[in-house]
Amino acid sequence: MKKILAIETSCDETALALVECQDSTVTILDHVLYSQIDDHGQYGGVVPGLAARIHGKKLPQMIIDFLDHNQPHLDYIAVTSGPGLEPALHVGVNQARVLATALNIPLLPVNHMHGHMFSSFLSDTHVPRKDEYPFLAMTLSGGHTEFVLVQGYNQYRILGQTIDDAVGEAFDKVGTMLGLGYPGGPAISRLAVNGDPEAITFPRPMIGSSDGRMSFSGLKTAVKYYIQDHPPETEQKKADIAASFEQAVIDVIIKKLTWILDRYFIVSIRGGGGVWANPALRKVTDQFAQKRSIPLHLPSQEVATDNAQMIGYIAALDLYYGVNRELRVEGKKAL
Ligand code: KG4
Ligand code: ZN
Repeated sequence: MKKILAIETSCDETALALVECQDSTVTILDHVLYSQIDDHGQYGGVVPGLAARIHGKKLPQMIIDFLDHNQPHLDYIAVTSGPGLEPALHVGVNQARVLATALNIPLLPVNHMHGHMFSSFLSDTHVPRKDEYPFLAMTLSGGHTEFVLVQGYNQYRILGQTIDDAVGEAFDKVGTMLGLGYPGGPAISRLAVNGDPEAITFPRPMIGSSDGRMSFSGLKTAVKYYIQDHPPETEQKKADIAASFEQAVIDVIIKKLTWILDRYFIVSIRGGGGVWANPALRKVTDQFAQKRSIPLHLPSQEVATDNAQMIGYIAALDLYYGVNRELRVEGKKAL
């Protein structure tokens, strides 16, 4: 029985998890999270330097309280080493280094994207079974838009990704344009419920390209110009813009998913990332998966957004599969 303390500070969540693993069983024993959303709200997005300062202020005391409460005998420290905001990543990695050195235990670096890709497994307490591969991991978050074929553990192939903005970033920017505050995603989806998704035909950039590439920057700009030309004077008009934008995003995602499923064999689709909180996206993808008779596994709301449970889980899988990784803090690199 081994215990791992996992630390996540890649963006605007300061998070810890305590994970226990024995053979193929992985159990999340406890977790805590401090969300910085309110700290960044006034700036309309996450400010990297501010995120790092808040991680630096919060993390040491959070660790002390967490260890005090759980009194674990730790065998490993796991930490997100990238991708993410570099100043924020360094806070977690430095803290993890200090702890691992003081306790004289190994430090396990974890790729944040791997965490999102496997986050839907966190509802179980086992490592993925052989028959659960190959799956398609669809990570849709504020920082990433990636469709990855997971052929086996640590056998990853990117089949689709954005060439510019991440899908959540587009939601956040359109949210700002509509005066909805940060983050825009949840507010847009609430507003869109009362809107007509066919009211405005926004462009669906790259929808027809015969590959998995996506683009959301042009769509965002099209919404910006539309709002400049037709300032929404009523809540209904705003709702129509929100619903039409949301529909354009969903159409692109489903089209790219179709393109992938027509070419690659997978046993299931697995979601990850905060954008999966979007009810319209969940509904359309669910209907699509049912039509294609492919199981769809979406993470719970709690582990869809950034968290430390998924980081501890990947560290446990690395131990189980005997994967060793070198610690290198990398801000931008995706997989
Ligand atoms: O996974 P996450 O917490 O952060 C990153 O790892 O980037 O995802 C946050 C993103 C934000 O862009 C937020 O606007 C978006 O997820 N989001 C949504 C919804 N809820 C959160 N986007 C669309 N509809 C939602 N209901
Ligand atoms: Zn993330």
